[in-house]
Amino acid sequence: MDILIRDIDLIPVNGGEDIIRDTNIYIEGDRIACIGEFRDDRDVDRVIDGSGKVAMPGLINSHTHIGMSLLRNYADDLPLHDWLTKRIWPIEAKLQAEDVYWGSLLSMVEMIQSGTTGFCDMYFFMDEVGKGLEESGMRGVLTRGLIEDDEADKKLLETKELYRRWNGEANGRIKVMVAPHAPYTCSPAYLRSIMELARELDAGIHIHLSETRREVEESIEEYGKSPIEHVNDLGLFDLPTIAAHCVHIDDGDMDILKDKGVSPVNNPGSNLKLASGFSPVDRMLKKGINVALGTDGASSNNSLNMFREIYLAATVNKAVNMDAVSIPAYTAIEMATINGAKALLWDEEIGSIEVGKKADMIFIDMDKPHLYPMHNILSSLAYSVQASDVDTVIIDGDIVMEDREIKTLDVERIMFEGERVARDLINR
Ligand code: NI
Repeated sequence: MDILIRDIDLIPVNGGEDIIRDTNIYIEGDRIACIGEFRDDRDVDRVIDGSGKVAMPGLINSHTHIGMSLLRNYADDLPLHDWLTKRIWPIEAKLQAEDVYWGSLLSMVEMIQSGTTGFCDMYFFMDEVGKGLEESGMRGVLTRGLIEDDEADKKLLETKELYRRWNGEANGRIKVMVAPHAPYTCSPAYLRSIMELARELDAGIHIHLSETRREVEESIEEYGKSPIEHVNDLGLFDLPTIAAHCVHIDDGDMDILKDKGVSPVNNPGSNLKLASGFSPVDRMLKKGINVALGTDGASSNNSLNMFREIYLAATVNKAVNMDAVSIPAYTAIEMATINGAKALLWDEEIGSIEVGKKADMIFIDMDKPHLYPMHNILSSLAYSVQASDVDTVIIDGDIVMEDREIKTLDVERIMFEGERVARDLINR
């Protein structure tokens, strides 16, 4: 379908802090064909009135576990280690494919409604997430989380199968990467076989690194190295890597991340709630490291709202650094868009609104009391916009949500089934 969006304010996120006022965007098929003057020589199938709205690239949630929305508000106010080992892992062991299917769809509804168009997911029963991506129209990276246990080799085969079935599917909206859960759940030998698989598939890596102080202390005890030094010495960073968290890191770690082109993902909401600490985001960005933004799962956040995460990235870092200039509004927006696209190895296609790129974009309805007066659109987007201000979502040139109505999914049914399988799961 060819779409013309008329008279819209545009934040392209392509370098400068530009705002293009009152412009027109032409989408042809899945791509952005032209931005600027209205042209009456062009035929389109649909015209959308963009007045009173701001167009920006769709948000990219670079680290999440979307099946975990079933465990939202199930276990809270616990230290990370107890939360994970005593509450989350035991119930996750009972999860079945159908649970992950409905949990993932529930998350996709929430993500679309809050302006997220693409995400990087680490979980299991990932075929179910693949099906959800096909149905919802979203864009995503599927990664099967690899924790070393009796089924370690089987999980590697599952990753291989996942790649074969889904990589490049749905008009290229789906990618598959390889996901060692963390260096504390994968031995060096297992990490080596994971790296071998990633090389064989020519796929990137998605891993948790240096999330807690305890993890770093135990790594130094066991290997004499920080988690980042440890996996770097094993050669992991010779593959393109998305590293969730990177909270407890020093200058040496940062130099490695920079040299190896690793993309850390800041998850401020999850880090705050699990009291994991504060990632040195400002210092990483100043060193030229590509820091992306994510929510982590809905059981540690407890939301997948990337606008809240943008707000937290900008405000938490200011407070921690005692520097009100730290992570300005536009930087936080970049973390949630173009930096995410770079992390997911997708920046040639998405992450900004530019001619030739895929049409993944969202429109914010600015005609809201809490956004008046309009002194500064970038500040509005980072500090004042609510998820419910997202009016329209276009992914791969398709209108996935318009006037807040999701076109691709049956929201009522997904809420019903999500509740049903969650009840069943905790009674299992
Ligand atoms: Ni995580």
